[in-house]
Amino acid sequence: MSSSFYAFLVLFLWNFLSDSQAFDCKEHVCEDNPEFTPSTLVVKYGKPAFATCEACKKGCQIGAFNIERSEGIVVEDSETKRTWRVTHITQWDKDPYCYNNLNGTFCCTTLDVTVYQPPQEVSIGFVNHTGPLMEGGRYTLQCAVQDVAPIKNLDVTFYKGQIYLGQGESKGQRESKTDQRTPVNESFFLSLTASKEHNGEFWCEATLLLGAEFPPVEKSQRLTATVYCEYVKNQIYGPKLDTSANQTSVTVNKGETLQLKCSAVGNPEPSYTWILPSSNNISHESVYMVKSVSSEHEGKYICCVSNIVRDVQITFNVKEHVCEDNPEFTPSTLVVKYGDPAFATCEACKKGCRSDVFDIEKSEGIVLKDGETKLTWNVTHITQWDKDPYCFNNLNGTFCCTTLDVTVYQPPQEVSIGFVSHTGPLMEGGRYTLQCAVQNVAPIKNLVVTFYKGQMTLDPQQFLTDHRTPVNKSFFLSLTAKEEFNGEEFWCEATLELGPGGPKPPPVVKSQRLTATVHYGPKLDTSANQTSVTVNEGETLQLNCSAVGNPEPSYTWILPFSNNISHESVYMVKSVSSEHEGNYICSVSNIVREEKITFNVKVNSHKINVLIACLVSLAVAILIIITFCVVYQRLKNKRTGNYNLKDVFRFRSRHFLVPAE
Ligand SMILES: *[C@@H]1O[C@H](CO)[C@@H](O)[C@H](O)[C@H]1NC(C)=O
Ligand SMILES: *[C@@H]1O[C@H](CO)[C@@H](O)[C@H](O)[C@H]1NC(C)=O
Ligand SMILES: *[C@@H]1O[C@H](CO)[C@@H](O)[C@H](O)[C@H]1NC(C)=O
Ligand SMILES: *[C@@H]1O[C@H](CO)[C@@H](O)[C@H](O)[C@H]1NC(C)=O
Ligand SMILES: *[C@@H]1O[C@H](CO)[C@@H](O)[C@H](O)[C@H]1NC(C)=O
Ligand SMILES: *[C@@H]1O[C@H](CO)[C@@H](O)[C@H](O)[C@H]1NC(C)=O
Ligand SMILES: *[C@@H]1O[C@H](CO)[C@@H](O)[C@H](O)[C@H]1NC(C)=O
Ligand SMILES: *[C@@H]1O[C@H](CO)[C@@H](O)[C@H](O)[C@H]1NC(C)=O
Ligand SMILES: *[C@@H]1O[C@H](CO)[C@@H](O)[C@H](O)[C@H]1NC(C)=O
Ligand SMILES: *[C@@H]1O[C@H](CO)[C@@H](O)[C@H](O)[C@H]1NC(C)=O
Ligand SMILES: *[C@@H]1O[C@H](CO)[C@@H](O)[C@H](O)[C@H]1NC(C)=O
Repeated sequence: MSSSFYAFLVLFLWNFLSDSQAFDCKEHVCEDNPEFTPSTLVVKYGKPAFATCEACKKGCQIGAFNIERSEGIVVEDSETKRTWRVTHITQWDKDPYCYNNLNGTFCCTTLDVTVYQPPQEVSIGFVNHTGPLMEGGRYTLQCAVQDVAPIKNLDVTFYKGQIYLGQGESKGQRESKTDQRTPVNESFFLSLTASKEHNGEFWCEATLLLGAEFPPVEKSQRLTATVYCEYVKNQIYGPKLDTSANQTSVTVNKGETLQLKCSAVGNPEPSYTWILPSSNNISHESVYMVKSVSSEHEGKYICCVSNIVRDVQITFNVKEHVCEDNPEFTPSTLVVKYGDPAFATCEACKKGCRSDVFDIEKSEGIVLKDGETKLTWNVTHITQWDKDPYCFNNLNGTFCCTTLDVTVYQPPQEVSIGFVSHTGPLMEGGRYTLQCAVQNVAPIKNLVVTFYKGQMTLDPQQFLTDHRTPVNKSFFLSLTAKEEFNGEEFWCEATLELGPGGPKPPPVVKSQRLTATVHYGPKLDTSANQTSVTVNEGETLQLNCSAVGNPEPSYTWILPFSNNISHESVYMVKSVSSEHEGNYICSVSNIVREEKITFNVKVNSHKINVLIACLVSLAVAILIIITFCVVYQRLKNKRTGNYNLKDVFRFRSRHFLVPAE
């Protein structure tokens, strides 16, 4: 086999094996297949397991064999033997496999591991039916099994008393969806036609068949069934209520659920009508319910149950529970750091207590009687997050109680900041999410997390959940990276705002500071991308293309007069000549962006300059001569006439270009 094919095969297999745990060594026939001892394992979830593999009976190539696994360790036993060991098995469906790779032939054997979990709960009931069974009626028993694995090894049996009724069948079985190895919830069903023999207790039993002598078994509760005989079934009869009383008193606390049951049996099936105290509404359910009771729900609820035979009435007198003498805590609320002491006093009954009917119910600490009606609750190290003590009295059969509102807090143990799924520099314009992770803080609803950029507050956030034990919680802030973020420090701060009863100042924990590096494109001094430059021949030409950017940009000049390329930020020609005329294109670029600027350079020719200079010199020379001649003439005339220097200038200005006389 060629080495390239070998490499391909190994690559292919590795990809295949790492992508898919469904890889089946059994489909792979080899001359020297590794061998596991034992070849199969049955292990309860969370328990230890081990197996030994003889990797290559005909001799191994060094480094070309091993046990692949998703958990546990592999120990070297000898030249060709490896042992796989796991102390707590947690992988339901990732069996280890042993392989060798001799002369380019890949051989492997999968260890057949069955990880099991006995059913956590088994319960029985009739599908869509409550109440007595009618003889001759078809009913379906349901056995619900919770969190069991593997489902294909589960066997469910139905019983009535000691009598075997039959095996349950599940939907999964009918649809052949039983290959799942992780725990599932599954219901098993058994249909029956009710007969007199079915009076009694039904139950079901879930057994995990794993080849063991004493397989794990879980039994359901017992379900009592009454079968009405054929005679009754064909007989019409009036509604029969569960209770014989036709007046019932119900007391319910404010905010609790009120549930009034009026269910009855009758033939034909009775109908229900409720007359309610608080409204003209009428309900036709067999059970009347109010989710959250308030005083308006007090009064008489009359349920009329009727069929063609007769009407039956039942009246419920509903009263809201009202306490006249509620106990009182001092202080009424406490804010305590976890592990610190706490102390409160309760005045149990202001109108006088009987010695045995008041107390403080608590889950920790001690309660001491402090006088006739006073109690004190004292705990040296508070450790219960959500079990508030309550003080009660029970006078003349009326139970009154008051809960002490205790806030047990714990300042954040660690606060850290970072970018979500991102390391390294930010790109200008990119969207990033900052994460502020707060560890082990309680109660979370009192936590305020604030993000900062330098000294600037970005976005205070709160998570209003009524969870009282410590939690880990992350807060997020999205932002678009800008050039000015470069070098800025980002950080976050977690503050436990515990209100007036809390510590002052409130506990604050700051995260580390995260310095942002932002990569941004080159920024040129000018926004124009065309610039005209005029320069005289022989002078120095300097074109400045300097730009700022992160990372530092690089420069490329395309010159008009040669194929040479320059990489300076400033392009310079010491002494310009006409050949340097033209367009200079400077490209400035970094990993973010490229900018271009074109300098249009014009050169004023030297020859023309010389010509102009000569002409100017000539004119000046002539002027000087003329002036000299005029002055000389006037000086000569001084002896005969009167004149001063002012006149000379006046004359000059008037007759500037007049040739000399
Ligand atoms: C592997 O190849 C070598 C020579 O290339 C040969 O001697 C050896 O027997 C081969 N081993 C197996 C297991 O085929
Ligand atoms: C039970 O009743 C519901 C609604 O009445 C129905 O959708 C469901 O199919 C019934 N189940 C069985 C097993 O008959
Ligand atoms: C099974 O049902 C229980 C109770 O409804 C639930 O807590 C559990 O998560 C379920 N398990 C699976 C595997 O669906
Ligand atoms: C039900 O109440 C009526 C009066 O409304 C009374 O005559 C009757 O005896 C009561 N029946 C029972 C079973 O309590
Ligand atoms: C009466 O019934 C109407 C409609 O079902 C409902 O919106 C209203 O809340 C009911 N009133 C009371 C007091 O239950
Ligand atoms: C609470 O109890 C501890 C010991 O049990 C005691 O030392 C402390 O003084 C008590 N505190 C109060 C306020 O009674
Ligand atoms: C409890 O009942 C007794 C008599 O039965 C009465 O004297 C007393 O006032 C009642 N107490 C309260 C708090 O209602
Ligand atoms: C919070 O996270 C830390 C570190 O990952 C961990 O040790 C701790 O148990 C977690 N606490 C909670 C309440 O999940
Ligand atoms: C730059 O030049 C191009 C043509 O070369 C033109 O389309 C563009 O608008 C110019 N941009 C600026 C900022 O002057
Ligand atoms: C080029 O321009 C930059 C920015 O305006 C300036 O800092 C630099 O000194 C200039 N270089 C030269 C050689 O003029
Ligand atoms: C181009 O570059 C070469 C080598 O650096 C140099 O000798 C030559 O003078 C350059 N030509 C121009 C026109 O600048």
